[in-house]
Amino acid sequence: MLRVSNYNYVKKYFLKNLKKTKNKKIHKKTSLLSTDRKHLNSLNQKGYCVVKNVFSKRFIDSLRLDFAKEIKELKNISCPRDLRLQKKNIEQINLPKLDEKTFLQGEKKFKNFTDSIKLKDPLINLPRIIQVALNKRIISICSNFFGCIPYLTFLKCVKTFKNQRKEHDTQHFHIDENSVKLLKVFIYLNDVNSKKDGPFYYVQDSFKNIKEKWGKNARWNENYLKKEYGVKKFKPILAKRGDIIFANTVAFHRGIKPIMKNRNIIILNYGMHVDFTFNNKLDITSKILKRDLSKLTKKNKSILSLLSTVN
Ligand SMILES: [Fe+2]
Repeated sequence: MLRVSNYNYVKKYFLKNLKKTKNKKIHKKTSLLSTDRKHLNSLNQKGYCVVKNVFSKRFIDSLRLDFAKEIKELKNISCPRDLRLQKKNIEQINLPKLDEKTFLQGEKKFKNFTDSIKLKDPLINLPRIIQVALNKRIISICSNFFGCIPYLTFLKCVKTFKNQRKEHDTQHFHIDENSVKLLKVFIYLNDVNSKKDGPFYYVQDSFKNIKEKWGKNARWNENYLKKEYGVKKFKPILAKRGDIIFANTVAFHRGIKPIMKNRNIIILNYGMHVDFTFNNKLDITSKILKRDLSKLTKKNKSILSLLSTVN
């Protein structure tokens, strides 16, 4: 049976890598803008923060448009899951992919049959995301959270569809059990103005006792969690294009299914080691082109050094 990795084992591995990284001069935490002091406090105390206007709307729009172009041409898009085969059990995460014929008929056809689509290898197929991942403000906040500059361990670029399908997979409450400490950075590529636009949904403070919950369920019942933490702790995180959300996702969270408009997002994972998957094994990491990596400074190279390189 597949089991998530053991908490104490992952913690030991995390501490070992934290120590190793803290000893590297190049990973010394960077200075924090005085305006980011409150963001860091929020992150440490509540588990999340929203930093406004980091990127220009124009830049974010250009990323969204490029992603849309790839979707239109079905270029570098992973074949999504077929939600017509969805079962009632919220723990059922793995579904077969759409048949190729339906997929090749394009987004207009398949958008009603799946929850979301992903861009393959975002750092390769949308290379401007490299600059996003290495953004000074992001690295500054992340490094002050960890006490040293972390590594980028994984990222994805996703379009989530508004449709009649039921919530699926990460649209149910869960804990990221890939590390005992990691930081996710969420960058909406379209404005998320209300719960109807499919925001990230976070249970404030739930990171504080998460060890007790680790590994018990893959997906959690919302009513149970509301009784456990209180309705007031449930925060839909709204943000505009250009804003950044930071969250400690070793805590209860989910993505709300959009009902007003599709939601486009880039999600970056930062941590001290490659993400764990099941049975105390390390997961695969995202890919980057060797030649793009070679153009970077020594420090930036190190931030991306856990990724797998391709020629
Ligand atoms: Fe998650």
